[in-house]
Amino acid sequence: MKTVLTGDRPSGNLHIGHYVGSLKKRVDMQNSGQYEIFVMIADLQALTDKADRFQKSPDAVFEVMLDYLAVGLDPRKVNFVLQSGIPAIFELPMYYANLVTQARLERNPTVKSEISDKKFGRSVPVGFVFYPISQAADITAFGAHLVPVGNDQMPMIEQAREIAADFNRIYGETLVMPDGLLSEDKRSQRLIGTDGGAKMGKSLGNCIYIKDSAAELRTKVMSMYTDPTHIHATDPGKVEGNVVFAYLDVFCDDTHFAKFFPEYKNLDELKSHYRRGGLGDVKIKNFLYAVLDEFLAPMRSRRAEYQKNKATVMAFLAKGTAAGVKKTNEVLARVRKAIGITS
Ligand code: TRP
Repeated sequence: MKTVLTGDRPSGNLHIGHYVGSLKKRVDMQNSGQYEIFVMIADLQALTDKADRFQKSPDAVFEVMLDYLAVGLDPRKVNFVLQSGIPAIFELPMYYANLVTQARLERNPTVKSEISDKKFGRSVPVGFVFYPISQAADITAFGAHLVPVGNDQMPMIEQAREIAADFNRIYGETLVMPDGLLSEDKRSQRLIGTDGGAKMGKSLGNCIYIKDSAAELRTKVMSMYTDPTHIHATDPGKVEGNVVFAYLDVFCDDTHFAKFFPEYKNLDELKSHYRRGGLGDVKIKNFLYAVLDEFLAPMRSRRAEYQKNKATVMAFLAKGTAAGVKKTNEVLARVRKAIGITS
């Protein structure tokens, strides 16, 4: 059975971009029954760019757990693990760091763009530049064959593969070579923001969260950017670059039309009417709202149930973490032996 590892930093609630980019894949994999799955809350990684603010959000881990459970991840089918509870992840980077050059770390495209986004310059914490090594430890400690991620994480997988290959070459075949797994649908690998920005991002204020209430969802959909030249309903409108259509492309299917918008058979018909002119933004927004609300409503209610049971939720995490400790300690023992550490 193949082992799967994925993770998220507990740095805010998960949004529908996470869902289409990665969470949906995890749920599908879980339901296929073909994998041993570990889903990690990367609380140590969250320290790498905010050492001082970390303690200020004591519920961050609980919040991510609630989002996981809301989207349908099932504690009977996956192991939820807390990164800081896995000792092997503290030790492996000490070995891996010797296999990676400074230049290679600085070339990592994800790290590079994050350093520039966060305006770190030369004051970048060593721990931040180091995090691809730590993430390689996350992945290899679990012997993960597959790592479902969004495409911004592919450079991390690439770096983990290099580390695994170098380790195996130097010390003998020890680590499993991981593969990244992108969502098959190109459109949904990266969902644009509600503002039309290239990326839905927690720090960008352009997200629809899994936990958003119906009222919050409505406000966000109604204020979406459409086509600035489509001023009157009678004007011809552009579908390309139009946020409402970008989301409809990802989230709606023909059954939604039958249910919420029977004037049209499918998205192609709706798009051609919009292009022709005579279709107002409020109508397409109302439709998108109905589609997204139907998608989020069951998640919202599952979340609300679990929210009342914090002890139960945290017990899921403790149980998964214990399974993770067992698994990773086996890998760690093999790593120590391969290097020749006998203590
Ligand atoms: N870097 C990932 C993110 O920011 C989180 C993460 C940490 C991760 N460790 C991982 C993802 C291991 C996949 C596998 O979202």
